[in-house]
Amino acid sequence: MPEDFASRAALWLDELGAITDEPGGLTRTFLSPAQARAKALVSVWLQEAGLEIYEDLAGNLIGRLASVNPDAKTVACGSHIDTVRNAGQYDGAVGIVTAVLAASALKGQPLPYHLEVVAFSDEEGVRFQSTYLGSKYYAGQLTGAELAARDADGVSVQEAMAAHRPAFPLPPPRELLAYVEAHIEQGPVLEKEALALGVVTAIAGQTRARIFIEGKAGHAGTTPMNLRRDALAGAAECVLTIEQYATAMPALVATVGDLRIPSPASNVIPGSVEFTLDVRDADEEVRRNFCARITSELQTQMSKRGLGIRIEILQEGAPVNCSAPLTSALESLVFQYQERCPRLVSGAGHDAVALAGIAEVAMLFIRCRDGLSHHPDEYATPEDIGLAAQVLAKFFSGFQKP
Ligand code: HGY
Ligand code: MN
Ligand code: MN
Repeated sequence: MPEDFASRAALWLDELGAITDEPGGLTRTFLSPAQARAKALVSVWLQEAGLEIYEDLAGNLIGRLASVNPDAKTVACGSHIDTVRNAGQYDGAVGIVTAVLAASALKGQPLPYHLEVVAFSDEEGVRFQSTYLGSKYYAGQLTGAELAARDADGVSVQEAMAAHRPAFPLPPPRELLAYVEAHIEQGPVLEKEALALGVVTAIAGQTRARIFIEGKAGHAGTTPMNLRRDALAGAAECVLTIEQYATAMPALVATVGDLRIPSPASNVIPGSVEFTLDVRDADEEVRRNFCARITSELQTQMSKRGLGIRIEILQEGAPVNCSAPLTSALESLVFQYQERCPRLVSGAGHDAVALAGIAEVAMLFIRCRDGLSHHPDEYATPEDIGLAAQVLAKFFSGFQKP
């Protein structure tokens, strides 16, 4: 492994993992103060690696190694610098660190393409419940509906971007040819196979929705049980029905990750409740059919309870296939270090999804302990991360147009 990729990766991940909006846990959301501090740190690494630094109007931080050919197309590498709440320090960050290390190994090498290392400003969608805001902006694919999405304070994406002052010059125009991302697997396969790296063949599609249950608030002490229209009891039945229906499916997963009672009080029957629904499957039709079935079932159940239900689809994303030639190129490099190279479907979404519409995309997966992610105990070894950086360095040094 070139010099000290593993030790530098470990050091950088610890430094980046300490930058949070919420002391006591790692939380770094779209255009937050912690995200600005994190980008300032990454910009130092990028400068030390010899890259020019830019930031676009969506807050994506971009390090650039210009090609010897000014008219060349661009190849990008990186991942997201935002996190979920109380996150682990590897999801997203590993893709940024390995990209910087790989770029540092290219110093002085004449490149037939421009290389951009990107720290995307929002992949998780924690602030606006709408994922890939950074990479969609980078790809020129951000929609009006996404720009109009509002956060818990009523601020829209458009307003948040308008208020954002990039800390670096705006990037030059680019024609994106390919995007490659290293990411922890966030699943158990590589650990079970005792392998450090794998490649990704496809990324599951996802539906994100917000569901509103309307009942009637009332006095907890004076309202008989048979006269109640308890929105939280109805929501609880919805959550269990979603779990039951998803468990009956061969591969589909469905999650209620955020549930709120707008005006909670222990002595008031909840009159309204809202919660999120996240549905994933590698097959578009399976996912859409599931959503149709669950919608009908929840409407029937809430009607029996005399409750109203409104389902708002926040985002629908079709499954994405990775580029076969780029994936094979990554795989052949992995074979220089491993006897086998698993080909995995990713249940997690990634910025590669947003870029797949305009470029060839490929992903390198890194083993993570217990397959755990979106959890403070998330972990990947410095050696596995350093190996991924080395594979990326070789990939970019020998990159040929797909
Ligand atoms: O939710 C996901 O799949 C990813 O972590 N954004
Ligand atoms: Mn994530
Ligand atoms: Mn991620």
